[in-house]
Amino acid sequence: METKQRLEGKVAILTGGASGIGAESVKLFAENGASVVIADVQDELGHQLAASSSPLKVSYHHCDVRDEKQVEQTIAFAVHKYGRLDVMFSNAGIDGSLAGILDLDLNAFDNTMAVNVRGVAATIKHAARAMVAANTRGSIICTASVAGSRGGSAPFGYTASKHALLGLVRSACSELGAYGIRVNCVSPYAVATPLTCRYSNKSADEVEAIGMFSANLKGIPLKATHIAEAALFLASDESAYVSGLDLTVDGGFSVVNRLLLASD
Ligand SMILES: NC(=O)c1ccc[n+]([C@@H]2O[C@H](COP(=O)([O-])OP(=O)(O)OC[C@H]3O[C@@H](n4cnc5c(N)ncnc54)[C@H](O)[C@@H]3O)[C@@H](O)[C@H]2O)c1
Repeated sequence: METKQRLEGKVAILTGGASGIGAESVKLFAENGASVVIADVQDELGHQLAASSSPLKVSYHHCDVRDEKQVEQTIAFAVHKYGRLDVMFSNAGIDGSLAGILDLDLNAFDNTMAVNVRGVAATIKHAARAMVAANTRGSIICTASVAGSRGGSAPFGYTASKHALLGLVRSACSELGAYGIRVNCVSPYAVATPLTCRYSNKSADEVEAIGMFSANLKGIPLKATHIAEAALFLASDESAYVSGLDLTVDGGFSVVNRLLLASD
């Protein structure tokens, strides 16, 4: 007996889908039966990924999430090409400036907010409009971070932006529940991706080793595919009554602090 694929018949847009967590999610969503639009600013990578996946089911569309018009056009592209929109995975993000508050460059801060907050707000707005217009009980998923609920684990601007993102998710969850639309986020601990390698100026192996050293859950490195699996759950009907959730994929990092015991 054939088992139904978890995203069979669904259409998904993944912002930041050309690299890292987004790229793993594109592959996993497509393997699970979704038609997927990769929305990113890295055109070459995005086209390559689309071509190496199932070309009929995966396409690339240039989209800088800082530009509302481009977000609107990307959603129109997905609806025109595949007929509907069921899932918006708003995952694009940048690390931004590494400066702390004492040296804060407000232009760099604005840019971090423009991608990580304003860009996500634009994707939620236009995805929700398309879903409401088509009476689709859709799923909107954002990539927040463990830095979205604590200070000290990432740069100032990034931390502020991910805290704001949790506000977007909860507020949109409240407004869109009336339309049957679910809004959730995934919050990863450290994953070795181009973002974290750039931020730390280290290789992927080094980033992974640092992550494992500081992790609560031992014996397994956190990989982009683990985040993609969490997003797949939130995209699928298996999470049909889950909304407003911040799904931490952090091996317990955010609920544990052993420093007091360690000081004995
Ligand atoms: N890697 C981690 O440890 C980690 C931890 C917590 C949260 N996150 C979040 O995960 C998400 C994905 O990051 P990643 O680690 O896979 O990094 P990544 O750099 O591999 O991927 C980010 C993608 O976003 C795209 N992007 C950047 N600015 C954009 C814009 N203006 N418009 C459209 N696309 C844009 C990039 O081109 C890239 O493809 C981000 O939101 C990041 O903040 C990552």
